[in-house]
Amino acid sequence: MGLPLAISDLQVHGDDRRPILRIEALEIPSGCRLGIRGPSGAGKSTLLMALAGLAPASSGTIFWGDTDLSQMSEAERARFRRRHVGMIFQDFLLFEELTALANASLAAAYADADRRKQIREGAAAMLDHLGLGAHASRSVASFSGGERQRVAIARALAADPPVLLADEPTASLDRASADRLIDDLAALAAQKGTTLVVVSHDPAMYARMDRVVGIVDGRLVE
Ligand SMILES: Nc1ncnc2c1ncn2[C@@H]1O[C@H](COP(=O)(O)OP(=O)(O)OP(=O)(O)O)[C@@H](O)[C@H]1O
Ligand SMILES: [Mg+2]
Repeated sequence: MGLPLAISDLQVHGDDRRPILRIEALEIPSGCRLGIRGPSGAGKSTLLMALAGLAPASSGTIFWGDTDLSQMSEAERARFRRRHVGMIFQDFLLFEELTALANASLAAAYADADRRKQIREGAAAMLDHLGLGAHASRSVASFSGGERQRVAIARALAADPPVLLADEPTASLDRASADRLIDDLAALAAQKGTTLVVVSHDPAMYARMDRVVGIVDGRLVE
């Protein structure tokens, strides 16, 4: 199951207090697959960071279901993120010396004791599902770009989060790997009812989303 998102009057400022993002209203239902497009520097990654609770809102509200991230302390946001949000970063952020399974199981290290086993099993199942089962115990240092990206997906989904955020997940992949990743992401989100938000420059990605919005100069455009 996913979570619905409701943003209202959101403003995010940079470290230099310059306004980066200003979104009056954005609502998506639970399980929606939302694509975000827009030029470089427009504020797309900043929006994802705000949705993950990593970039604090200067004003306005960000509701995931009944939870308003803007009213939470950093520690509360971190706790919410661990329980509810999976993230796929543009540069994967894998631990090179660790195996695919260890990378995919990373959430277990931060989870409550009673969920650790479930997350490890989820990670192994996701790697299997993404065609990496036979490579689970290989260190990711020797993985290809496409394989790394699939490990990153497995990691993001291992704990079965209601929300999945992905920042340009196909940026470093060739066309065939990118298409496969898009299919995997869209299908997994649909199957589990995950609310999916994907920043992408890839038109093939937009075609698999329920809705696509643009960000230009920190503002939303449909
Ligand atoms: N913490 C910060 N302090 C000051 N400025 C920031 C901060 N974070 C981002 N910015 C600036 O805000 C703008 C938007 O950045 P952001 O990374 O969200 O863009 P983007 O749309 O993801 O671009 P790209 O497509 O190149 O990844 C940029 O000009 C960036 O330099
Ligand atoms: Mg970005």
